[in-house]
Amino acid sequence: MSHQVTIKPSGHLFHTQNDETILEAALREGFALPYGCRNGACGTCKGKILEGSVDYGSYQATALTEDEKLAGYALFCCARPQSDLLIEVREIGAAREIPIKTLPCRVQAMEQVAPDVMVLSLKLPANERLQFLAGQYVDILLKDGRRRSFSLANAPHDDELLQLHVRNVPGGTFTESVFTQLKEKDILRFEGPLGTFFLHEDSAKPILFVAGGTGFAPVKAMIEHAFHVGSGRPMTLYWGARAKRDLYMPQLPEEWSRAQPGFRFVPVLSEPVAADMWTGRTGLVHEAVLQDIPNLADYEVYVCGNPAMVEAAHRAFSARGLPEGAFFSDAFLFSTDPKPAT
Ligand SMILES: Cc1cc2nc3c(=O)[nH]c(=O)nc-3n(C[C@H](O)[C@H](O)[C@H](O)COP(=O)(O)OP(=O)(O)OC[C@H]3O[C@@H](n4cnc5c(N)ncnc54)[C@H](O)[C@@H]3O)c2cc1C
Ligand code: FES
Repeated sequence: MSHQVTIKPSGHLFHTQNDETILEAALREGFALPYGCRNGACGTCKGKILEGSVDYGSYQATALTEDEKLAGYALFCCARPQSDLLIEVREIGAAREIPIKTLPCRVQAMEQVAPDVMVLSLKLPANERLQFLAGQYVDILLKDGRRRSFSLANAPHDDELLQLHVRNVPGGTFTESVFTQLKEKDILRFEGPLGTFFLHEDSAKPILFVAGGTGFAPVKAMIEHAFHVGSGRPMTLYWGARAKRDLYMPQLPEEWSRAQPGFRFVPVLSEPVAADMWTGRTGLVHEAVLQDIPNLADYEVYVCGNPAMVEAAHRAFSARGLPEGAFFSDAFLFSTDPKPAT
């Protein structure tokens, strides 16, 4: 059964078909509502139901609290309309122009840049380019139907090869196979571009990028894009890792610092080893930001990495005056896809 959904404040209208979620229907009709995981885990797609009723679907309790539900909120990646709806949500202007494609790609190069980080360079078929916004991700489609998300580490202008930074999760279905089985010339399939973690270019505020581990991947794309379009915004990158070997391409941000007057790089190690002879910053990466900047009211912050870091940063930065609309993030959540029956 089809239901009409009206978006406030834009007044845009779309219709759900069959058993679609609000998000699925909106994206199909070209309206980019914010989302991250698309499986009820991250809360990015949260919006308000002003009129009408929904089936809330299944989701993680941390992504939508009971209080939020009582206040009228729902996760649009899980909620299915039971009547026509009036919803309130911020729309992403730019992403909706971009088609989401399913494409094969060839592994052009594999470079192990740290004990547990592999940089994959993927080549698309001739005459294919992936249009995307700096910071978005793709889903690698596994043979058994499951999917795994990886941020695009190259900027959109530099799109001859797509670059992924893959951290090896011991026992992980996909990432471990990258380190033990995948080889150059192998074919992968992916869907993308996905996600709403991209550089918002309609602001002149100074930017703080906070990356944990391979959370550097989308941040690299955003910074390279900002340099490419000549954004004069001051930018500081805080990149956190355990030990020095885990900062897997330190020469790149160091080079940016030398070449770009408005750019600063602050590496932060949480567990430096003696051999590192580390004299730089130590501790948790988001805490280094708090030590340096007492009031965040005039900044925009882009945070990417493991979910605990992203959540801690959100809480701490909000308490330091960062406006809600100035915090952008992607949390590297584990996939909750069930393993298909064999
Ligand atoms: C939007 C988005 C973008 C992402 N981008 C990147 C990226 O650019 N680079 C990158 O390396 N990762 C990225 N990730 C995370 C990546 O998708 C997961 O690491 C991946 O799903 C692990 O897949 P797997 O098949 O190897 O492990 P799975 O088979 O999914 O996991 C096996 C087991 O390992 C555990 N596990 C899974 N992931 C982690 C983890 N991260 N830390 C600790 N334990 C874990 C779980 O308990 C799970 O049961 C991203 C995630 C999201 C949602
Ligand atoms: S909870 Fe809906 S996109 Fe993550």
